[in-house]
Amino acid sequence: MEKEKFYITTPIYYPSDKLHIGHSYCTVATDTMARYKRLRGYDVMFLTGTDEHGQKIERIAASQNMTPKAYTDKIVIGIKELWRTLCISYDKFIRTTDDYHVKTVQKIFKQLYDQGDIYKSSYEGWYCTPCESFFTEHQLVDGKCPDCGRDVELLKEESYFFRLSKYQDRIIKYMEENPEFLQPNTRQNEMINNFLKPGLEDLAVSRTSFKWGVPVEFDPGHIVYVWVDALSNYISALGYGSEDDSLFRKYWPADVHVVGKEIVRFHSIIWPAMLMALDLPLPKKIFGHGWLVINGGKMSKSVGNVVDPNVLVDKYGVDAIRYFLLREIAFGQDGNFNNEALIQRINSDLANDLGNLVSRTVGMIEKYFGGTLPQARTATAFDEDLKAMALSTTEKVENAMEDMFFSDALIEIWNLVRRTNKYIDETQPWILCKDEEKKAELANALYHVAESIRIISVLIEPFMPNTPQKIWKQLCITPGDMTAWDSTKTWGVLPAALKVEKGETLFPRIDMKKELAELEAAIKASQATNLANQSKQQQEKKEEAQEDAYPAEITIDDFCKVQLKVGEVIESNAVEGSKKLLRNVVKFAEEERVIFSGIKGTYAPGELVGKRVVVAYNLKPRKMMGEMSYGMILCAEDGDGKLSILTTDDKDFASGSGIS
Ligand code: ME8
Ligand code: MG
Repeated sequence: MEKEKFYITTPIYYPSDKLHIGHSYCTVATDTMARYKRLRGYDVMFLTGTDEHGQKIERIAASQNMTPKAYTDKIVIGIKELWRTLCISYDKFIRTTDDYHVKTVQKIFKQLYDQGDIYKSSYEGWYCTPCESFFTEHQLVDGKCPDCGRDVELLKEESYFFRLSKYQDRIIKYMEENPEFLQPNTRQNEMINNFLKPGLEDLAVSRTSFKWGVPVEFDPGHIVYVWVDALSNYISALGYGSEDDSLFRKYWPADVHVVGKEIVRFHSIIWPAMLMALDLPLPKKIFGHGWLVINGGKMSKSVGNVVDPNVLVDKYGVDAIRYFLLREIAFGQDGNFNNEALIQRINSDLANDLGNLVSRTVGMIEKYFGGTLPQARTATAFDEDLKAMALSTTEKVENAMEDMFFSDALIEIWNLVRRTNKYIDETQPWILCKDEEKKAELANALYHVAESIRIISVLIEPFMPNTPQKIWKQLCITPGDMTAWDSTKTWGVLPAALKVEKGETLFPRIDMKKELAELEAAIKASQATNLANQSKQQQEKKEEAQEDAYPAEITIDDFCKVQLKVGEVIESNAVEGSKKLLRNVVKFAEEERVIFSGIKGTYAPGELVGKRVVVAYNLKPRKMMGEMSYGMILCAEDGDGKLSILTTDDKDFASGSGIS
C-alpha cells in the first residue's frame, strides 16, 4: 500500500551567526512532528533552509567586508552544523541563493505580471529593514516599526505591486470556512480583525535601491521583494515550475507550515494570496508558535543567560534540551527560558523519573535474577491498573500530537513513567526477593515494569532521538517489531526470557547550586568582555522597556500570556520576622511550589491547608525572606484592605488544572 504523504516546513532562517535557543525551538518542534509522522508510517518531506537575500543581509555582509554570498556561505555551514547537533532530520535544505529557486521565483513573478496580478507603479512609504516589511504612515507607532519598534526608512521608489487587495475577501472566506487553517485559533481572529477586515493594500513587491536579491527577469533593475522570494521556497523546493515537478505533485499542499507568531501575517495573508493568484491549493495548516523569552524580556545577547544552543547541548545533551523546550513551553504560547527551570526539569523528570526507573529496573533484574528474568510468573494485584494505563497512553499522545500540543503529549508519557515508578513501590520487589516462594511474583513485577519501559521508550522517540536506543541496549531489545509505534498498543511484547545489561546513566543528576554558580561565573566573565558594548546594551534595554510598557487595553493574546492554575495548599506557615507573609506550599498535580503571600492579616497559619487557590503560575520567581517564591496566590481586596482568596466552586477541583 502506498504511504500517505506528510509535508512539513520550518521558516527559512535569515543567516545569522547568532542563532540562539529561540531559533532552535521552532526547528526542534518541527523535527519532532516529522519524526512522529515517520514513526506512524507516513512518507514525510521535512523542509528547512535559509532566507539569504535582501537589504538586511546585504548590509551585514558589507559591514564585515564580505560579499553577501561569501557571508551567507559561511553562516550556512554553521546553521547546518547546529541542526546536526540538535538531531534535526530534515529531508531537504533549501537556500534561496540556489539556482533552481531563483529561476522559479522569476517565473512566478513573470506569470503574475503577465496575468495582471502584478503591475508597475511607484512606492512612497516606510520600510523596516530588520523586518523586511513595508508600512504606511498611519501604521507606524510613534514613527517606528509597529512590529519591532525600530527605526524605519522613507522609501520613494518605482516599484512593482502585487494586487493583494483583490484577494482579501477570498482569504477571509477561506479562514472562516477552515477554522483549522491557522492555529492556535486566536491568531486567526487577530489576522481577520486587525489586518483583513480593515482592508488590504496592494503590496510593493520589488525594490530598486539595492542589488542583493532575485532580479526581475524582464526588468533587471528591480529586485524581487524578499518575502515573495522567501515564501516561494515552499514550492520551489519541490520543483514547482521546473522540468521535474514530481515532488511538487506528490507533496503539495503542505500539511503544515510551522512559523513564529511574528511572521504569521506573511504566511496567512500574503502567501495564500500568492497561491490563489497562481491557482494552487493552500497549505492545510499554519501553526504560529510563541517566543522563548528570558525573564519576561525578549531573548537577547546582552541578557546574562546562557542561550547558545551549542553550549547547552554540550553541557546537558541534546535529548535533555529538546525535552525541556517541548515540555516546558506550551506550543503556541510564549515561554520563559531560564537555567534554573532547565536544570530542575533535567533533575526531576529525566534523572529522577525516567533515568531512575530504567536503572533501578535493570539493577533489580541483575541483582535478583542475574540479568535474566525467568518465564515462571504469577500475577500481582497491581498489574491490571498499570497495564490499562500503559495501553491508554498511546491514544492520548496521538491526540495531543495531532494538535501539535507537544507538552501535553509529554505530560501523558510522564504520567506513565510516574505510574510505573509507583508500581515498583506498590509491588515492593525488595521485600518479595526475601521470600523464595514469591520469586514468581517478583519476576512478574519486574517483567511488567520492563514492558512499560519498552512502551515509554517508543513513545519518547520523536522527542528524544538518542535515549530510546540507550534504553533498548539495556533491555537487550533489537529495534524492529518491539519498537514499532503500534506495538505500544499491545501488552506483553517483550520476550518471555528477558535479558538485561546495565549501561550508562541516562541522565546524570546535576548539582543545582554548583551548576548555577558556574553559569553565573561564566556570565560574569562574558559580561566583563562586553563592557565595550555597553552603549549598545543600553539601547537594547530601552527597546525592551518600550516593549514592556503597560498597555491600557490588552488583546486576548496578551491575556493568554498569563498562565493561571488551580493549586491545593498543603502547607501554610508563619514566616519568622514577617507580620504579613505566609509561606505556603502549593501542589499542582505532581508538582509542589513554595509561594509566599501577604495574607496573614486575614488567614491564620494552617487555615488555607486543603483549600484550592488560583495562582499566577508563570510569574517570574522572586526572592522573599531569603527564599525563592514561585508564583502568586490571587486575592480579592476591598476598600479597607481586607483580603479574600479566589477559589474554585468545587472545593476538591483537581489541582494543576489550568484556568481560561
Ligand atoms: O523570519 N523564540 O527568519 P528568522 C521562538 N526569514 N522562536 C524564535 C525566536 C524566539 N526567541 N527568535 C526567532 C524569518 N524565532 C524569515 C522567515 S519563511 C518563508 C521566512 C523564530 O531567522 C522565528 O519566529 O528571523 C521564525 O519562525 C524563525 O525563528 C526564523 O526567524
Ligand atoms: Mg525574525
